[in-house]
Amino acid sequence: MASVTSLTDSVQQQLASALSATRPEAAGADPLLRRSDRADFQANGILALAKRAKANPRELAAEVVLHLTTGDLIEDVEVSGPGFLNITLADRAITQNLAARLADGERLGVPLKEDAGVTVVDYAQPNVAKEMHVGHLRSAVIGDALRSMLDFTGERTIGRHHIGDWGTQFGMLIQYLFEHPGELAPASEVDGEQAMSNLNRVYKASRAFFDSDDDFKERARKRVVALQSGDKETLELWQQFVDESKVYFYSVFEKLDMEIRDEEIVGESAYNEGMPETARLLEEMGVAVRSEGALVVFFDDIRGKDDQPVPLIVQKADGGFGYAASDLTAIRNRVVDLRATTLLYVVDVRQSLHFRMVFETARRAGWLNDDVTAHNMGYGTVLGADGKPFKTREGETVRLEDLLDEAVQRAAEVVREKARDLTEDEIRERAAQVGIGAVKYADLSTSPNRDYKFDLDQMVSLNGDTSVYLQYAYARIQSILRKVGDVRPSAHPELDLHPAERALGLHLDAFGDTVFDAAAEYAPHKLAAYLYQLASLYTSFYDKCPVLKADSPEQVANRLFLCDLTARTLHQGMALLGIRTPERL
Ligand code: ARG
Repeated sequence: MASVTSLTDSVQQQLASALSATRPEAAGADPLLRRSDRADFQANGILALAKRAKANPRELAAEVVLHLTTGDLIEDVEVSGPGFLNITLADRAITQNLAARLADGERLGVPLKEDAGVTVVDYAQPNVAKEMHVGHLRSAVIGDALRSMLDFTGERTIGRHHIGDWGTQFGMLIQYLFEHPGELAPASEVDGEQAMSNLNRVYKASRAFFDSDDDFKERARKRVVALQSGDKETLELWQQFVDESKVYFYSVFEKLDMEIRDEEIVGESAYNEGMPETARLLEEMGVAVRSEGALVVFFDDIRGKDDQPVPLIVQKADGGFGYAASDLTAIRNRVVDLRATTLLYVVDVRQSLHFRMVFETARRAGWLNDDVTAHNMGYGTVLGADGKPFKTREGETVRLEDLLDEAVQRAAEVVREKARDLTEDEIRERAAQVGIGAVKYADLSTSPNRDYKFDLDQMVSLNGDTSVYLQYAYARIQSILRKVGDVRPSAHPELDLHPAERALGLHLDAFGDTVFDAAAEYAPHKLAAYLYQLASLYTSFYDKCPVLKADSPEQVANRLFLCDLTARTLHQGMALLGIRTPERL
């Protein structure tokens, strides 16, 4: 593996040395380099520098130019406007750089970061015995993409699926199962669909008893106590709910084409044993105080109605522990045992107050210190085409599987329409890749903290910023590469580049920098936007630069090489977003 310094970084370095050679006070100044339409790059940083140095910006810019060596990398530099530098790179440098990327295989020359830490990503956390909904979809899709992106930069990630598998509702469920044995089929005998329908049936039946029968209610309450104190028989029944639910979760994640590892499913229940200690420590340290029998934490700046402080409840007055206690205990585990340097929570923005209080409590207790960053990547709500929270026509939450099935079905129509030489099996396979890709891309291409409209028609459209558009771009390149047979795509740095080739090439070079920025900012939409632009730049390259009918065999090979690198970059970028790129569409 040989990593490649991006052209941007190389230019940046040369500018930095030119700046410090010009004037001592210019050392370390940011040249503010960016891609530009006028030249390859424009540096705007001299304006601010001139202001500070009380110098004439154009004159200062001209001085910097004198210290900038043109040659292998920079072919031309000129002062423009009030004191900008317009920088043009040598064609040869661009092509050589891209050739080095192609030679580096899947990493495309992207280096691994040096100061890698451990990020625990809390994502894809559905609740036991409950149907998954679109909110869980967002957490899974965003979390999975962020994780792949972080991994690609060299960060070590550990997944945690903090499933809702604990709490008072299990008293009711378990008591019902205790009184009606055999109502849940063994997990090994059901598929995802059956598992969920069994769970739903038991849930409804037990709920009916709970609401109408006070004696049952009392027995259910006792069951919660038995569960929390670890009664063996109670735990066995509880385990049946967990196992049955996992069958269902796995079937949904499989549909989502997402790998979930069993050892990373560590739900609320896993922290049950540590919760009393968490409470004791918080009380001893004075971080939490007793209030009306409950153990709570107060915050000066968190107030609700009538300016009353809103506390975080660590332990309820009846001795029970809840959501906050499990999250606080999980933090101790993740920081101390897993040695996390970053805790990332991909959870609905509506829980952001909860996390603010949990993080602040953990900071006061010293469980989070300056070496650990905690961040809630709070995502927005999925809306229906009408702009209201996504519901069925009857006003119920939409079943996630139904939604995914429908996406795949719509995708099948699109694929079938375009397919000329595909078999039925191939159509089915592509439809899944296109449909699930469409759902993921629509989610990932909007900034996570914004709401987004779930609009299947738009998602599977071939025009516009959709995954299908990108998948087609990829498949089209593959079909060109298949056609050439014995012409090997190979770089020819001696050739002059067409403007459309330069634009494409410079964008290809920016892949690694983009992934690093997007990962650091937890912004998968920046990678999505990059890929969309890549496909657009490729389209205009393809329109303006004949590939197979280029002027010379070297030109053909070099353009095929650009096609090849574009395809590999698209493939890798889409893979980081969790989206497949079929070879044919
Ligand atoms: N199960 C919760 C829900 O469905 C999400 C859990 C989020 N993670 C956490 N550590 N609290 O809303």
